[in-house]
This record gives sequence, C-alpha cells and structure tokens, in this order.
Amino acid sequence: MTTKPIALVTGAAQGIGLACAEALLEQGAFVVLSDINAERVKASALRLGPSADFVVSDMSDSTAISAMFDAVEEKHGPVSILVNNAGVAIPEPFLEATEETFRKVIDINLIGVFLATQRAAKVHDHAQDRGFDRQHVVDQCGVGDSDHRLLLFIQRRHHAAYEGGFAGACAL
Ligand SMILES: NC(=O)c1ccc[n+]([C@@H]2O[C@H](COP(=O)([O-])OP(=O)(O)OC[C@H]3O[C@@H](n4cnc5c(N)ncnc54)[C@H](O)[C@@H]3O)[C@@H](O)[C@H]2O)c1
Repeated sequence: MTTKPIALVTGAAQGIGLACAEALLEQGAFVVLSDINAERVKASALRLGPSADFVVSDMSDSTAISAMFDAVEEKHGPVSILVNNAGVAIPEPFLEATEETFRKVIDINLIGVFLATQRAAKVHDHAQDRGFDRQHVVDQCGVGDSDHRLLLFIQRRHHAAYEGGFAGACAL
C-alpha cells in the first residue's frame, strides 16, 4: 500500500490517458493505468516506474469495471483521483450508422463513465470514514469547475440517466 494519492486513469495505455497518467505521476500521485489493451497498458505502466501499476479492464463491461476497482483497492487502497478517459469515436455517416456501433460507443463513453464515477463516489464515501476527504473526478469531456470535489457532487444527479439521454439526444 502506498501513502500517495491513488489516481486511476482509464484508457491509459496510450494517447491522452497516458499523458494524464504521466502528469499525475509528476504531481506525486501513484497512478494505476487501466486499459482494454493488456500488452500496451502493461508496457506503459512499466515504463512509468515503481509509482505506477496497471489493470486490464473493458469500460463497456460493468463486471470488469467493478473488478477493476476491487483490484485497485485491494492492492493499493481507495482511489482518490479518477480520470474517465477511455473512449472511442467511430465516425459513420448518420444514415449509415448501425445500432451496434451506436450501442458500443454509448456503452464505453457514457455508461462506462457513469459506472466508474458512481463506484468512485462510493469509494469516496467509504474512504471519508477512514480519514480521506479529497477526491477528484475528471471526464474526457472536460472539467466543469476548479474545485473538482464539487464536480463529484454535481455528478450525483438524481436524473443521471435522463440528463445523459437528453444531452445525447441533443447532440444527434
Ligand atoms: N484526440 C482527440 O482529439 C480527442 C478530442 C476530444 C475528446 N477525446 C477523448 O479523449 C479520450 C482519449 O483520446 P485519445 O485520442 O488519447 O484516444 P486513443 O484512441 O489514443 O486512446 C484511447 C485508449 O482507450 C482504450 N480503450 C478503448 N476502448 C476501451 C474500452 N472498452 N475499455 C478500456 N479502454 C478502452 C484504447 O485501448 C486506448 O488505449 C477519448 O475518450 C476521446 O474520445 C479525444
């Protein structure tokens, strides 16, 4: 177990997620890189050194998301920083887009973010009882407030599914 704040970054094998992990490491966090690409995420975590670890997870799979948090908590402790970075973009002309592709993207980019954020919020509440009081959640769509702790509470919507669906429908 580490005494450093634990940052969990999804989709961190490469690209923006890996850059976030590197930045968090530089800022003194212990970073756990999560990705569906087992080989690449392992290589990236090893390259970051002893203050980094990795976990293989599919952000479209609720069981895998739960197992990811279980594994991180068991090995390192409660997650203090969650970066919901994993996401895919599959460009298709609107009239040719398939339900299968649409569901795949929504499963990762929206439902995966909901499940991870909800689990992080539960971890946060539990950790508070054990003396931790700060947690940050960042989504790939951007940070809405300079006080990230506030963002966590903003995201605790009673109508999360409705709001998510509404925002998605407006974006079609
Ligand atoms: N690149 C951009 O210009 C841009 C702009 C706006 C938003 N974004 C968002 O930022 C995030 C990162 O972008 P990027 O350019 O670094 O992407 P990228 O494709 O380089 O990296 C995405 C990572 O997510 C992983 N991933 C894909 N599906 C996954 C799944 N089901 N479960 C777990 N991991 C999975 C991939 O293996 C990959 O390592 C994405 O969510 C993207 O939508 C990117």
